[in-house]
Amino acid sequence: MAKLSESGAQKIIEICGRYKDEKTPLMMILSDIQNEFGYIPLEVQEVVSKETGISVAEIYGVVTFYSFFSLTPKGKYIIGCCLGTACYVKGAQQIIDKFSEILGIKPGETTADGMFTIDALRCIGACGIAPAVSINGTVYPKMSVDQVPKVVADYKAREGAA
Ligand code: FES
Repeated sequence: MAKLSESGAQKIIEICGRYKDEKTPLMMILSDIQNEFGYIPLEVQEVVSKETGISVAEIYGVVTFYSFFSLTPKGKYIIGCCLGTACYVKGAQQIIDKFSEILGIKPGETTADGMFTIDALRCIGACGIAPAVSINGTVYPKMSVDQVPKVVADYKAREGAA
């Protein structure tokens, strides 16, 4: 969705229409758009603003506040590295740094081939198996820096075999 297509704009208008009777429709609209398109860039926010009368500044504020909304497309595999306290004291920073080094991207970024995104997460509720990494919902317990290259290689191999 580099530039918003006519059909993309129509879809957004349709989503906004679903909640026209709601008092506070913004979260529902943005959730539907995030699910439908995978991200919510500025040109989409402008359409939502026009349809709802809510300012782009307010919409932008919501999109950037909640981590489940994204301004840019995410990768096929989202590598969520927990940087909560329990994981942090067990070396989570070195683990996320290793993913960054291998993939050549910073946390919050996506590889150019659209394959991987690295996300820094707060506690994911798996402190007992810290440091924890979650990739598309699969939790990797007690991760170590040494395991990182193999995990990345496994996902790459999976793609090669697909
Ligand atoms: S701090 Fe990482 S799972 Fe709780």
